[in-house]
Amino acid sequence: MTHATGAPGEDSFSFTPFTRHPFFTQVNRWIIDMVIGPGRQIIVDLGCGPGAVTKLILERLSGAEPPPHVIGVDPSPSAIARARACISSRFAEFKEGTAELLSRLVPPADAVVFLNAIHLVQDKRQVLGEIRKALKPRGLLGFNSTFFNGAYVEGTGGFWRRWVVRAVQVLREQGITVKHEGHAAAMQWLSAEEYAQACRDAGLRPTSVELVKVDMSAESLADIGRFSLFIEGALPGVPLQEGSDALQVGLERTMDELKVDSVQRNWLEVVAEAD
Ligand SMILES: C[S@@+](CC[C@H](N)C(=O)[O-])C[C@H]1O[C@@H](n2cnc3c(N)ncnc32)[C@H](O)[C@@H]1O
Repeated sequence: MTHATGAPGEDSFSFTPFTRHPFFTQVNRWIIDMVIGPGRQIIVDLGCGPGAVTKLILERLSGAEPPPHVIGVDPSPSAIARARACISSRFAEFKEGTAELLSRLVPPADAVVFLNAIHLVQDKRQVLGEIRKALKPRGLLGFNSTFFNGAYVEGTGGFWRRWVVRAVQVLREQGITVKHEGHAAAMQWLSAEEYAQACRDAGLRPTSVELVKVDMSAESLADIGRFSLFIEGALPGVPLQEGSDALQVGLERTMDELKVDSVQRNWLEVVAEAD
């Protein structure tokens, strides 16, 4: 049986191991390069998690005048603690809080990035309205997600379904029943067009809506299969350690059966400007 892994001192079920795969930097840099630049001083990294994106923002703004003020916001106390421990820049601060209340947490912002997290919020329209309130006029929002209708590259849908089915079988072999398969309630998937329309409805004009296709290696899939929110989304109600172990075995079985060693997936990348 496998166990959650990571560097010494790293939390179990953390997102950090997944963030180390090069394609993850690529899909995030895509947004950061579009949204963050000189003159954009107050920047919110919403759903910052343990800080992988915050680091990219600080790198991008290194030496900028006037210096930036980057505010990482996340509802997870352990992620905020990890981000504070990893990033010591005097230009960054971290606050515990949620997207649903963003405009009460931060000063008027030049840019908000919300990367790999928007799919986790229940009421996406309310949250886009909050982000609009938190932005200055002409401020920019950039968000991305690989949990949307359109994420599966043609011909790969069977891979993702089989992975969950095999993990559920592993759990059944151990006498653990999964009540229902599929997306947890909070993980309602929108299409690219639905996201674009939700932006317009919130007073955010989409300036770029694109798909970036990446090749996910077996190692990166194993890492996402050990991340708490992925486990909860794929196997609702299953304890994290059992879910993580089942996803590892399910992944090996799926890759053997389909004779693949990687799988492609689309990231949705959206930039929108406040009216
Ligand atoms: C997959 S991680 C992404 C972390 C980081 N943005 C990145 O791309 O490396 C998703 C993060 O969204 C946060 N999150 C979940 N619900 C949220 C909400 N309602 N408002 C803000 N962040 C939320 C989680 O706590 C988690 O840290």
